[in-house]
Amino acid sequence: MASILPPPHSKERRIIFGNISLPDYAPDIDTYIRHGGYASLKTALAMKPSEIVGAVKAANLRGRGGAGFPCGTKWSFIRYDDGKPHYIVVNGDESEPGTFKDRHILHRDPHQLIEGLVISAFATNTHLAYIYIRCEFPHAARIVSEAITEARARGFVGKNILGTGFDLDIHVHQGAGAYICGEETSLLESLEGKRPYPRIKPPYFPAVLGLYMKPTIVNNVETICHVGHIIRLGAAEYAKMGTPGDGGTRTMCVSGDVVRPGFYELPCGAVTLRELLFDICGGLKPGRSLKAVIPGGSSAKIMRADEIYKVKGPDGAMVEKNLSMLDVTMDASTLQSIGTMIGSGGVIVMDDSRDMVRTLNNLNTFYAHESCGQCTPCREGSLWMAKMTDRMLAGGGRADDPAALKSVADNIAGRTICAFGEACSWPTQSFLAKFPEEFAIKAS
Ligand SMILES: Cc1cc2nc3c(=O)[nH]c(=O)nc-3n(C[C@H](O)[C@H](O)[C@H](O)COP(=O)(O)O)c2cc1C
Repeated sequence: MASILPPPHSKERRIIFGNISLPDYAPDIDTYIRHGGYASLKTALAMKPSEIVGAVKAANLRGRGGAGFPCGTKWSFIRYDDGKPHYIVVNGDESEPGTFKDRHILHRDPHQLIEGLVISAFATNTHLAYIYIRCEFPHAARIVSEAITEARARGFVGKNILGTGFDLDIHVHQGAGAYICGEETSLLESLEGKRPYPRIKPPYFPAVLGLYMKPTIVNNVETICHVGHIIRLGAAEYAKMGTPGDGGTRTMCVSGDVVRPGFYELPCGAVTLRELLFDICGGLKPGRSLKAVIPGGSSAKIMRADEIYKVKGPDGAMVEKNLSMLDVTMDASTLQSIGTMIGSGGVIVMDDSRDMVRTLNNLNTFYAHESCGQCTPCREGSLWMAKMTDRMLAGGGRADDPAALKSVADNIAGRTICAFGEACSWPTQSFLAKFPEEFAIKAS
């Protein structure tokens, strides 16, 4: 039987998707062990927990869920011996539009996640972990639950793991179908059985006051999977695959107007946007030209194809260069230097057939529907932005609509409890800034 994935492109390096690429790979524990599974756990259990945290730091692993926070630094906020219960919560909400990687890991290689999770728990003195899976992935919840049962039966989860005296229990929790549940503090509220209103930071940084007000690590599914590979390869070897500030590989999910949309696991910073779209994804549809790209999930600021960008990268220390959009390297610090982000790795490609007001309206409708309603600027503003772009599309645009839209967006960003405020206002701000002519036409 063929693999579910096409053969890798020469630029790809499949680590997270290594097993899933194999013909006949199945999500059961015997298959996982046959392909080297749980060897990293055995290695890790012989290490000191502080050595594991040090390795994750040295590997330069950044979170793959959106914010890109350095994983080892986050872990080191947990004080190993503080006498409190600690929790790890795996964020399997995967709700950012344009992102479709975690679901494949959950469905096809659940033991990879469990192995990474047990190592992460051992490193942070955690004895209870949750895997939070969005409710739209019922099969994933079943598959991961079955995998936990298998792992428990083999002594990889539960009491006295592999005779080391270390205990860890893992529970799967299904979400309730809201984008906001991907935001880490609202996810914790949801896990506690409450309405998922995000918590204010400070004081409620999860590492200090997380689940049940106890120190908690929240990490994305893909992030946790990388931990096992850091132990297997060694931190230096792992870090070397990426850039100085962004180690290892990253899964890029490419959707929209390319010939071969899909997810591609690439060493961080290994490709420019041109290589990603044209060499790997087969280029644009016949007769079309490139108009714009959103590089990191729908909340990331849009890039315009015919613009020149002042880029610092990939390590942020290089001399500034003027580059066309296609020559920008796809890594965290380079994209940050031009005012956008790698985010969750969701690359949304738009060709010249796309109407930018309609595209923004699509995003605004999503955000208006998904605002949790806790903060007035976000609750009201996201709806106003959707209504204004609705009106522009219906032919009722007014001359001052672009300015009014900008004003609404500017009054949401930075004025809400969680980053949903930025997530919903950045598309409006950046679409208006990059494509003013299209909004001016619809406003007249
Ligand atoms: C509105 C919103 C939605 C989010 N959705 C997700 C999500 O679906 N999955 C995810 O892993 N992180 C999501 N995040 C980021 C999480 O808050 C958090 O930063 C992440 O889970 C931390 O894991 P990482 O450091 O491994 O990336 C979201 C953030 C915001 C503000």
